Amino acid sequence: MPVTTCVFDAYGTLFDVAAAARQAAAEPDFAQLSDTWPALAEHWRLKQLQYTWLRAVAGAHDDFWKVTQDGLDWALEKTGLHGDAALRERLLALYWELESYAEVPAMLHSLKAGGLQTAILSNGSPDMLQGAVTSAGIADVLDDTLSVEAVGVFKPNWRVYDLVEKRFGCAKEEVLFVSSNGWDAGCATGYGFTTAWVNRGGDPVDRLPWTPHHILDDLSGIPRLAGL
Ligand code: LAC
Repeated sequence: MPVTTCVFDAYGTLFDVAAAARQAAAEPDFAQLSDTWPALAEHWRLKQLQYTWLRAVAGAHDDFWKVTQDGLDWALEKTGLHGDAALRERLLALYWELESYAEVPAMLHSLKAGGLQTAILSNGSPDMLQGAVTSAGIADVLDDTLSVEAVGVFKPNWRVYDLVEKRFGCAKEEVLFVSSNGWDAGCATGYGFTTAWVNRGGDPVDRLPWTPHHILDDLSGIPRLAGL
């Protein structure tokens, strides 16, 4: 069945989650990050994701802004930067205006020019996503931005993936789901989407019951996968 709808994970897929720590580290006020920013960014991201999974399993949902702050607090303590209120505030502010990856605008423009429907499907809360989409300047090439807040549970709960069919009325087989998170792409395969994993870091495939259908180095190959 041809692809009619391309759906993207947000954080790490369209938006570079390491950009907040990298950018703060380059600012004169935050020289304390110059060596530690890669470790801080990695711990922050991993804890943020772990907290989404644990909250989903435990049935203890709170929004992505809460788990983003909790993940950062753990990461700051782990890297010896706990208690630096100005740094914490700056990193959180930068999270609302993360850079998109360089190829994102042209890739989305190609999909729209080719007549495909495009959307984000993300753990992010609606206001966070709106901030990131606006700052990346990609609102006009997205048909919608779908947030897990509509169902009150994080990925990979399948009620999240159900949001695509509800919004676009398309069959699962018509959806190309794209994520830089191997677990998200793998679980979306299990759900029934056609999937692409954007594996920028050359990571091993996650050992899950399902694997992504396609593996790419970046997003530039998505229009071709969508049949354009
Ligand atoms: C998201 C996280 C998983 O955007 O990156 O949903």
